Amino acid sequence: MGEGLWVLLLVLCSGFLSRFDLAVSLSRDEAATVIAINEELRIPGWGVTGNASGSSDVYCSWPGIRCDAQNSTVEELHLSRLFLGGNLSLISQLAALKKLDLAANSFRGPIPPSLGNLSKLEFLDMSMNMFSGSIPKELSGLRSLKALNFSDNLLVGEIPGELRQLEKLEEFQVSSNSLNGSIPAWLGNSSSLRVFAAYENELGGEIPENLGNASQLRSLNLHSNRLEGNIPKNLFAAGKLQVLILTQNRLGGEIPDEIGSCQSLSSVRIGDNNLVGAIPPTIGNASSLTYFEADNNNLSGVIAPEFALCSNLTLLNLASNGFNGTIPEELGSLPDLQELILYGNSFFGEIPLSILGSKNLNKLDVSNNRLNGTIPAEICNGSRLQYLVLGENLIKGEIPHGIGNCIKLLELHLGSNYLTGSIPTEIGRLKNLQISLNLSFNHLHGGLPSELGKLDKLVSLDVSNNKLSGPIPPEFRGMMSLIEVNFSNNLLAGPIPEFVPFQKSPNSSFSGNVGLCGVPLNSLCDGSNVDSHEGLHHRVSYKIVLAVVGSGAAVFVAVSIVVLLFMMRERQEKVARASRAAEKDETNNRPTIVAGNIFIENLKQAIDLDSSVQATLKDSNIVSTGTFSTVYKVVMPSGLVLLVKRLKSVDRSIIHHQSKMIRELDRLSRLSHVNLMTPIGYAIYEDVALLLHCYLPNGTLAQLLHVVSKEPEYEPDWPRRLSIAIGVAEGLAFLHHLAVIHLDICSGIVFLDADFNAVVGEIEISKLLDPSRGTASISAVAGSFGYIPPEYAYTMQVTAPGNVYSYGVILLEILTTRLPVDEVFGEGTDLVKWVQGAPMRGETPEQILDAKLSTVSFTWRKEMLAVLRVALLCTDNIPAKRPKMKKVLEMLQEVKQN
Ligand SMILES: *[C@@H]1O[C@H](CO)[C@@H](O)[C@H](O)[C@H]1NC(C)=O
Ligand SMILES: *[C@@H]1O[C@H](CO)[C@@H](O)[C@H](O)[C@H]1NC(C)=O
Ligand SMILES: *[C@@H]1O[C@H](CO)[C@@H](O)[C@H](O)[C@H]1NC(C)=O
Ligand SMILES: *[C@@H]1O[C@H](CO)[C@@H](O)[C@H](O)[C@H]1NC(C)=O
Ligand SMILES: *[C@@H]1O[C@H](CO)[C@@H](O)[C@H](O)[C@H]1NC(C)=O
Ligand SMILES: *[C@@H]1O[C@H](CO)[C@@H](O)[C@H](O)[C@H]1NC(C)=O
Ligand SMILES: *[C@@H]1O[C@H](CO)[C@@H](O)[C@H](O)[C@H]1NC(C)=O
Ligand SMILES: *[C@@H]1O[C@H](CO)[C@@H](O)[C@H](O)[C@H]1NC(C)=O
Ligand SMILES: *[C@@H]1O[C@H](CO)[C@@H](O)[C@H](O)[C@H]1NC(C)=O
Repeated sequence: MGEGLWVLLLVLCSGFLSRFDLAVSLSRDEAATVIAINEELRIPGWGVTGNASGSSDVYCSWPGIRCDAQNSTVEELHLSRLFLGGNLSLISQLAALKKLDLAANSFRGPIPPSLGNLSKLEFLDMSMNMFSGSIPKELSGLRSLKALNFSDNLLVGEIPGELRQLEKLEEFQVSSNSLNGSIPAWLGNSSSLRVFAAYENELGGEIPENLGNASQLRSLNLHSNRLEGNIPKNLFAAGKLQVLILTQNRLGGEIPDEIGSCQSLSSVRIGDNNLVGAIPPTIGNASSLTYFEADNNNLSGVIAPEFALCSNLTLLNLASNGFNGTIPEELGSLPDLQELILYGNSFFGEIPLSILGSKNLNKLDVSNNRLNGTIPAEICNGSRLQYLVLGENLIKGEIPHGIGNCIKLLELHLGSNYLTGSIPTEIGRLKNLQISLNLSFNHLHGGLPSELGKLDKLVSLDVSNNKLSGPIPPEFRGMMSLIEVNFSNNLLAGPIPEFVPFQKSPNSSFSGNVGLCGVPLNSLCDGSNVDSHEGLHHRVSYKIVLAVVGSGAAVFVAVSIVVLLFMMRERQEKVARASRAAEKDETNNRPTIVAGNIFIENLKQAIDLDSSVQATLKDSNIVSTGTFSTVYKVVMPSGLVLLVKRLKSVDRSIIHHQSKMIRELDRLSRLSHVNLMTPIGYAIYEDVALLLHCYLPNGTLAQLLHVVSKEPEYEPDWPRRLSIAIGVAEGLAFLHHLAVIHLDICSGIVFLDADFNAVVGEIEISKLLDPSRGTASISAVAGSFGYIPPEYAYTMQVTAPGNVYSYGVILLEILTTRLPVDEVFGEGTDLVKWVQGAPMRGETPEQILDAKLSTVSFTWRKEMLAVLRVALLCTDNIPAKRPKMKKVLEMLQEVKQN
C-alpha cells in the first residue's frame, strides 16, 4: 500500500472522528445551564435559545464549547475576546468544567464566589476584564486547579490565605491589579508552583525568604510593586529559577552570593531599586545567564570580570550606578553579547578593543563616564555594531580612519569629549547611519568632508561646538533624510546650500559661525536674493516621507521607484496652495516633457501626454490627495478619461533616478491583478513625474465611507463593504506573495471601479524586500496617520506585518464607518485604540460597529462580528501575532461563505 493511500485514510479517519465529536450530546441539566448561560451572556455564534424542539447535541457544536462524550457534560468553555458581560454565577453549575477561559471581555463586578464549586476546574483565565473587589476565599474549593489568571483587572485587597489549599497550582498570575498586603509566605510550601506573576500591584513588605522552598519555581515576576528588604538568597537555592524580575521596587541590600549557585538562571532584571554593594564574582557560575539588567541602583565597585564566564550572556545593563574601575577586556570574549550598556557610571581608562571587535555586539553605550583613553584605530573589525554611544566622556585623540569599518552603524555619538583632529572622510562610508551622527562639543577642526553628503538615510546631524572651518559643502544636499541639523558655534563660512532641511531649520542651527550667510540666517550672501525663499520662512512642522534606498549595489533590497518627497502635511495647505499658484503662473511657458511612454499599445492613439500635464495644473481636477501624491481626473481630447497621479520630488531626485524609475514602471505595468492599480503610462517634466492609470468612476473607499452621498444607491451596504474588504486583501496578498511591501495603505488609496470592485493604488510606492530578511529599513516612518503600526516608530522598518496592521485599520473603518483618527476618540486615541479599549469601557460590539448595518439583520451582525475579530488580530500591537495577509484573506472568505 502506497504512502499516499495511508495519508488518505488518515484524512478520512480524522474527518470521521470530528463528525463523531459533533454528535456528542449533553445531559438535560447541562443543556439547560448552557441555554441559561447564553440567555444571560448573549454569546456571539451561539444559537438563538429557547428552542425546545432542538436536540441537545447542537450545543456541543457551538463555538467555544467542548463536551465530554462519556459523561454528557461541558468540559471546556473558551470565551475570550467576545465583548461579553453579565452575571457569571451560572457557570458554576457546570460541575464537570475543566477549562474556563473568559479572558479579555467586559465582565465587571466581583468574582462570583460560587466558582469555587468547580472542583474539577484545572484552568481558569479571567484576565483582562474589569473584575473588582477582592479575590474570594471560596476559590480555595478549586482543588484541581493548575493555572489561575486574574491579571489585568481592578482587584483590591490581599491575596487570600485560603488559596494555600490549591495544592496543585502550577501557574498563578495576578499582575496588573491593585492588590496590597504582602507576598504570601505559604507559596513557599508549594511543591507544584512553577510561575508566579504579581507585577504591577501595590504589594509591600519583604519577599518571603522561604519562597525559595517552592522547589519547582521557574519564573518569579514581581516588578512595579512596593517591595522592600533584600533579595532572599533562598530564591536561588532550589536551582530551578530561570526568570527573576524585580524591577521597580524598593529593594535594598546586596545581590546575594548565592545567585551563582542557580545553574538555570537565564534572565535577571533587578533595575530601579536601591541595591548596594558589588556584583558578587559568583555570578560567573550562573552559566545559563543570558540577560542581566541592574540599572538605576546604587551598585558600586568594579564590573566582575567573571561575567565573561557566562558564555550565553546577550545583554548586560549596569547603567546609572556607582561602578568604577575599567571596563573588563574579558567581556569582549562573550560570543553572544549583543548589548553592553554602562552609561552613567565612573568607568575610566580605555574602551577595550576586544569589545569593539566583538562579533555579535550590536549596541555599546558607555556614555557619561570618565573614560579617558582614545578610540582605537582598529575599531569595528568585522563587528555588527549598530549603536556606538561614547558621548560625555574624556576621550582624547582623533577619530580614527577605521571608523569607516563600522558600516552597520545606525547611530554614532561621540559628542562631549576631547576629540581633536579633523572629521575623517571615511564617515561617509557609514551608509546605514540613520538615527544620528553627533560629533558636537569636541575640539575638531578642519573642513566638513563632502563625503558626509553620501549619508542619505541620516535623520539628525550635530557637529556644533567645534572649531570646524570652511564652507558647508554643497554635496550635503545628498543627505536626503535629514530632519535635524546643528552647525552652530564653529568657524564655518560661505553660503548655506539651498536644501530644504537647512532652510527649514531654526537659525540657531547655524548661528555662532561668523562667516555663514543665507537662509535661515538673517545675514544675506552677496548677490543672492533672500526674497525668493519667502515661502520657506514659514515654520511649519514637516515630516519626511520617502521610499528610498535604491542603492544599485544592493542585490535584493531595491525600491520599486526612487521617489523622494518632502510632504509638508498638517497645517500646510497655505504653503501648498501658494506653491501651486506659483506653478499656475508657469502655465504660459508650458513645461517640456523630458520622458514619457504609454505601455498599452492600443491606448497610444487615445492618450495625449501634453494634455495630461496641463490638466494636472488645475486644482479643480483633483480627485484625492495621498501621502505621496495627488491624483487628478483627466479627460483626454479623445474622450478617454484617466486618473493621473502627480509625484513631486525635491532636490531633483526624480530627474536623477529617472532611468531606474522608468524601468520599474515598465515592470509594474506588467503586474496583472484585478485588485491592483497598475500604471498604463507616464510622463516626466521638470522634477515632476505623472503616472497614468485607467479611470475608476466610483472614487475611493475613503469617500464611500466618509463622504455623505445624496444618491441612495451609493449607500454602502454590508455585503458591498465585505467584498471591498476581500478585494483589498486579495490585492495585498498578491503583492506580499511577490515580496512587495506597500508603503501607504489607507482607505484613500483603495479605488472603486464601476462595479465597486476594490483596486489598490499607490503600488508604485512600494518596496521590494529581501525575502530572507522580510524587512527593509527606511529613514522615516512611511504611511498615513492612524494607519501606521506602532512598531514603525522605533524599528523604522516597513514590514509585511506592518501592512497587515494598516489593512486592519481599513477593516475597522469599514465596520465602524469612523475615521482612523478623530477627535471624538479623545486625546492620543486613534480608531484602533478606541476599538481595543471598548471592553475596558464596558461597551458592547453594537456601540462599536456601525449600527446602521449591524442592526439590519442577524446575518449581517454575525458577519460583522467575525470581521471585527479578524480586524483585532490584524491590529495586534505585537507584529508577530498578526496573521499573514494570505491567512487574513482566507478568514474573510470564510466569513462570506458561511
Ligand atoms: C429550532 O430548532 C429547529 C430544529 O432543530 C430548527 O429547525 C429551527 O430553525 C429552530 N428555531 C430557531 C428559532 O432557532
Ligand atoms: C466521567 O465521570 C466519572 C464519574 O464522575 C469520572 O470518574 C470520569 O473521570 C469522568 N470522565 C471524564 C472524561 O471526565
Ligand atoms: C448573579 O446571579 C446570582 C443568582 O443567579 C445572584 O445570586 C447574584 O447576586 C447575581 N450577581 C450579580 C452581581 O448580580
Ligand atoms: C456553590 O457555592 C456557593 C457559595 O460558595 C454555596 O453556597 C453553594 O452551596 C454551592 N453549591 C453547590 C452545588 O455546591
Ligand atoms: C493567563 O495565565 C495562564 C496561566 O499562566 C496562561 O496560560 C494564559 O495564557 C494567560 N492568559 C492571557 C490572556 O495571557
Ligand atoms: C488594602 O486595600 C484595601 C482595599 O483597598 C484597604 O481596605 C486596606 O486597608 C489595604 N491594606 C493595606 C495593608 O494597605
Ligand atoms: C547556551 O545556550 C545554548 C543554546 O541555547 C545551550 O545549548 C547551552 O546549554 C547554553 N549553555 C549553558 C552553559 O547554559
Ligand atoms: C571605586 O569605588 C569604590 C567604592 O565605591 C571606592 O572605594 C574606590 O575608591 C573607587 N576607586 C576609584 C579609583 O575611584
Ligand atoms: C585615566 O584616568 C585614570 C584615573 O583617573 C588615571 O589613573 C589614568 O592615568 C588616566 N589615563 C590616561 C591615559 O590619561
